[in-house]
Amino acid sequence: MGKKRILSGMRPTGKLHLGNLHGALENWVELQNDDVYDCFYFVADWHALTSDYKDTSAINENIVDMVIDWLSVGLDADKSTIFIQSKVPEHAELFLILSMITPLSWLERNPTYKEMKVELKDRDLSTFGFLGYPVLQAADIIMYKAYGVPVGVDQLPHVELTREIARRFNFLYREIFPIPEPLLTEVPKLLGVDGRKMSKSYENSIYLSDRNDVLRDKVTTMFTDPQRMRKSDPGRPEICNVFAFHHIYTPRDEVSAIEEDCRKAAIGCVQCKKRLAARISEGMKPIHDRQDYYVNHKEEVENIIAEGISKAASIARSTMDEVREAVKI
Ligand code: TRP
Ligand code: SF4
Repeated sequence: MGKKRILSGMRPTGKLHLGNLHGALENWVELQNDDVYDCFYFVADWHALTSDYKDTSAINENIVDMVIDWLSVGLDADKSTIFIQSKVPEHAELFLILSMITPLSWLERNPTYKEMKVELKDRDLSTFGFLGYPVLQAADIIMYKAYGVPVGVDQLPHVELTREIARRFNFLYREIFPIPEPLLTEVPKLLGVDGRKMSKSYENSIYLSDRNDVLRDKVTTMFTDPQRMRKSDPGRPEICNVFAFHHIYTPRDEVSAIEEDCRKAAIGCVQCKKRLAARISEGMKPIHDRQDYYVNHKEEVENIIAEGISKAASIARSTMDEVREAVKI
């Protein structure tokens, strides 16, 4: 054995979009398929509660939908452990103990905390749970003595805090926890259809589940080079979001041809987008087929989750035995 353990999680905020796919999930699949790693991926449903505590009605449905999306993009239950945070209640116990040793000042200066409070103005986030978000995340990570945590750059402060909390525990009680490394995921510059960051809350996302007309219509509305008003104007592919997507979904020689034609105004944006929609459709086909399969075999999904929970729980129990012994309580 001696495989390095990888752990990452996502909040169940609903169906996933292409930003999630190329920004995180593809990396998860790649790590899973690398023999030197043992990967744990979980649904952070308690973390969803920190911002969505007022209306919890969608969380359970979102969990299953999200795991279906994970499996559809290639997470493989024979290789990765897939589980749900709240079904391993040891996370809450470790969170409680870590909360005792985490200085408030570490949490108050957390940039993600400050940003989120500004961004999500419609919700009251002056709660204890929201401030403690990274402490729960630290518990998630060190519970499994993870070596590496694949995350996007926005999550770096949380992993940094996890490292500090783990060091503090080791110093105060006993050297139980390895200090986890953030594994920074390169996020390609794919924007939403309106040119802003692709995000569920901006309603500008192309979802993994979008097909045919829905997909075509969304691609049709995509922002392009703003200076290209007429078809006869030469375009600048390097600043065009449609072109960024072509890079991912279209074969290289065709991408080069589009690039040239765009600069010479030999191809119009309408046609360019039509080609993109067809390419995305084609590229997503295997994912859509697997989605269809799992939607019709939900019991299989439930079994995968149950197995993952039991595997995660056994590790969590043994970590907590060590923790209780170290803390002497
Ligand atoms: N905070 C992460 C996010 O919003 C989700 C998360 C919770 C997580 N616990 C984690 C990610 C542990 C990595 C490791 O994306
Ligand atoms: Fe963008 Fe394609 Fe239009 Fe060029 S032709 S500006 S790459 S959409």
